[in-house]
Amino acid sequence: MNVLVTGGAGYIGSHTCVELIEAGHTPIVIDNLCNSSAKSLDRVREITGTAVKFYEGDVCDETALEKILSENAIDCVIHFAGLKAVGESCSIPLRYYENNLGSTMTLCRVMAKHGVKKIVFSSSATVYSGDNEMPLRETSKTGNCTNPYGWTKYMCEQILRDIAKADPEWSVVLLRYFNPVGAHKSGKIGEHPNGIPNNLMPFISQTAIGKREKLSVFGDDYDTHDGTGVRDYIHVVDLAKGHVAAISHAAKNKGEAVFNLGTGTGYSVLDMVKAFETANDIKVPYVIAPRRPGDLATCYADPTKSREVLHWEAKHDQTDMCRDTWHWQSNNPNGYDE
Ligand code: NAD
Ligand code: UD1
Repeated sequence: MNVLVTGGAGYIGSHTCVELIEAGHTPIVIDNLCNSSAKSLDRVREITGTAVKFYEGDVCDETALEKILSENAIDCVIHFAGLKAVGESCSIPLRYYENNLGSTMTLCRVMAKHGVKKIVFSSSATVYSGDNEMPLRETSKTGNCTNPYGWTKYMCEQILRDIAKADPEWSVVLLRYFNPVGAHKSGKIGEHPNGIPNNLMPFISQTAIGKREKLSVFGDDYDTHDGTGVRDYIHVVDLAKGHVAAISHAAKNKGEAVFNLGTGTGYSVLDMVKAFETANDIKVPYVIAPRRPGDLATCYADPTKSREVLHWEAKHDQTDMCRDTWHWQSNNPNGYDE
C-alpha cells in the first residue's frame, strides 16, 4: 500500500517507515520538522536501501496536503504529526489544540475529498482516566485528562470516531501507545528530545553518557514493589510493527477500532535503571526526588485485543530496550546533529 505518514521524520514515524518498507509498503512522508530532522529519513534509506519520498510541510496546511494527495495514489494514512510535550502543553495550550486538532481535521477533510478513508491515529494511554484498575483495557474509562496534551488525544479520538460513525466507508484505527522506548538495532535512528528530557529512558541514557549529572527518581513511596512508578515500556520497533498490523486491519475492516499497544508487563523506575546498567555495563547515578505532580503509581496495558484481532504482540524484552537505547545514544550523542 502507499501510506501517507504524517510526522514520519519523528521518533516513532521513522521507525514505522522502516517497518512499512520491510513489509513491502511505500511510505510517503509529510513533516514540518518542528521536532525532528530530515536526516532520520536518510538513515531510513541507509537501513532499508529505499529512499522515502518526503514533503516538508505542515499538516494544518490544506494546500500542502492537496498537493500530496493529488501527486500520489494514497491508500491509507498513519497520522503521527503532533506536539507531544506534556509540560509545554500546560504553558502553551492553544498551540497544542491548534496543531493537534487542526492537523487532524484538515487531514481528514482532504482525505475525504480524495476518497482516502483509512486512517491510523497515534493516541496514547494518557487518554485513560487515572481511576481505572490495572491492566487497562480498551474498554476502560477514558477522560479526566490531566493536561492539554492528553485532552488533544482524547478529542482527536472523538473527532475520528464521529467521522467513522457519519460515513460507513471510513476505517479509523486508534492506537493507544504505552511508553515507547528503544531504537532500531542498527543504532541509526532513535529518539533525541530537545533540551532536558522529560521521559525516563532518554534521561537515563543522557545520564549514562554524561550529559546529565544524575537521574532524579520521582518518588519512592508509591504502592509498588520497590516504591517507584511502574510503567509498560514498549520497544519502538514493536510499536512500529503494530502500525503495519493496523493498516492491514484498516484495509479489511470499516468503522472504528481501538487497540492498546503495550507489552502487558510493568517495570518500575529502579527496574529500568538496573536493567540499563546490566545490559550496557554502565553506571546510571540517581537520587530519590519528590513525586512528580500528576504521576500515577502504576500504568500498564492489557494487550489481549491487539494480539487476538491485530495478530500483533511485542517481541522485544527489557534488555533489548536498554541495549538498543544505548547503542543509538552512544553512536549519536547529539542525535542527528553532527
Ligand atoms: P516526534 O515529535 O518525534 O514526532 C512527531 C513528528 O510530527 C515530528 O517529526 C514533528 O516535526 C512532526 N509534526 C508535529 N506537528 C506537525 C504538523 N503540524 N505538520 C507536520 N509535521 C508535524 O514524536 P513521536 O514520539 O514520534 O510521536 C509520534 C506521535 O505519537 C505523536 O502524535 C505523539 O503524540 C504520539 N505518542 C507518542 C508517545 C511517546 O512517548 N513518544 C506516546 C503516546 C503517543
Ligand atoms: C509521560 C506523560 C504521558 C505520555 C508519556 C509518553 C506525564 C505526566 N505523562 O508518561 O502523557 O503519553 O510520557 O511516553 O508527563 N521518571 C523519573 N525521573 C525522570 C523521568 C521519569 O523518575 O526523570 C519516572 C516517572 O515518575 C514515571 C516513569 O519514570 O514513574 C515514566 O515516566 P515518563 O517516561 O515521563 O512517562 P509517563 O509518566 O508514563
